[in-house]
Amino acid sequence: MANRKKITVIGAGRVGESTAHILASKALGDVVLVDVVPNVGAGKALDIMEERPLEGWDVDVVGTDGYAATAGSDLIILTAGLPRKPGMSRDDLIAANLEIVKSCSAQAAAASPDAKLMVVSNPLDVMCFVAKQATGWSKNRVFGMAGVLDSARFRSFLAMELNVSVKDVQAYVLGGHGDEMVPLIRHCSAGGVPITDLLSADRIDAIVKRTQGAGGEIVKLLGFSAYYSPAHSAVAMAEAVLKDERRILPCSAYLEGEYGTSGHYLGVPCLLGANGVERVFELSLTDAERALLAKSVEAVKSTTDVAKAKLAG
Ligand code: NAI
Ligand code: 2OP
Repeated sequence: MANRKKITVIGAGRVGESTAHILASKALGDVVLVDVVPNVGAGKALDIMEERPLEGWDVDVVGTDGYAATAGSDLIILTAGLPRKPGMSRDDLIAANLEIVKSCSAQAAAASPDAKLMVVSNPLDVMCFVAKQATGWSKNRVFGMAGVLDSARFRSFLAMELNVSVKDVQAYVLGGHGDEMVPLIRHCSAGGVPITDLLSADRIDAIVKRTQGAGGEIVKLLGFSAYYSPAHSAVAMAEAVLKDERRILPCSAYLEGEYGTSGHYLGVPCLLGANGVERVFELSLTDAERALLAKSVEAVKSTTDVAKAKLAG
C-alpha cells in the first residue's frame, strides 16, 4: 500500500460497505473492510477496486475476516452488529451488539494502537461506552456517529417543507440517538432566517417528531435500517479526523460534567479533528430544552447502566 491514510471499516453489511465505498470515492485513504463472514469483505472490496478506474480513485481497498491487514490504521469505523428489524427499538440490540462491539473494538485497537475509533453500531451511545471500555482509550479517541445523521434528517425535512435548497438549511439535534433526541428549534434557520419565522408551530412540531422517528420510518419501509445517509454521515466525520478539519459537528462524546451529566456518551456539539473529539461545546439551553435533554440523558444512562452491569459480570 502507498503512504496514504489507512481506514479500517468493521462490518461489511449495508452501512459498512457504503462507508467503504464513499471513503474510496473521496480517496480519503486506503480501506480495509472486515467482516466475520468469510469472503464478504473481500468480495465487496474487490468490487470497489474494480470500480476505481472509472473515476480514477487512487486508493486500495482490501477485505478480510481478520485483523492482521488492519494494522497501523489511522481510523477505525465500527459498523459491525445487528441492525433493527420492524418493531425493534435501538435498545433491543444491546445484548447481541455488546459482545460484537467489545470483541471487534479490542481486536482492532490491538492492531492499530494509535488510531481513533468511531462507533456506528447501535444502541449508539451505549456501544460507544462499550468500545471505550474495551479499548481503554482516552475519551477523545472514541466517539460515535449519530448527531450528524439526525441533523441531516432534520435539515432534509425542513428543506422539503420550505421547498428550498438543503444547502441553506441549518439545523441541529442534541442528545442520545433515540426517540428522545432533542432537535433544537432555536438553532434552526434557512439562509439565516429563523425557521420560527417561516413555519407554524404545528408544522415545526410535526417535523421534529418525524426527525425523532426517522430511523424507524425507514426500518418500517425497508424491513432493515438506513445505510446511505448513515454511511455518508460517518464519512463526513472521518474526513474531519483524517484531514484535521477541526469541524464542529454533533458527535456522541463521553461526558464528564458537561450538560450536568457524567459517565456516559451523549450527542453534543464537538470539535472534531486529528485528535478525535478535541472539545465539547456547551450550549446554553432554555428550561424546556433542558427538560427534554434530561429525558434523553435518562434514557441513555439507563441503557448504559445495563451495559455496565453486563461488562462487570
Ligand atoms: P448489516 O446487518 O447490514 O451489517 C452488519 C455486518 O456486521 C454484517 O455483515 C455482519 O456479518 C457483520 N458482523 C457481525 N458480527 C461481526 C463481527 N464480530 N465482526 C465483524 N463483522 C461482524 O447491518 P447495517 O445495516 O450495516 O447496520 C450495522 C449497525 O449500524 C447496526 O447496529 C445498526 O443498528 C447500526 N446503525 C447505526 C446508525 C447510527 O446512526 N449510528 C445508522 C444506521 C445503522
Ligand atoms: C437509524 O437511525 C437505525 O440508528 C439507525 O437509521
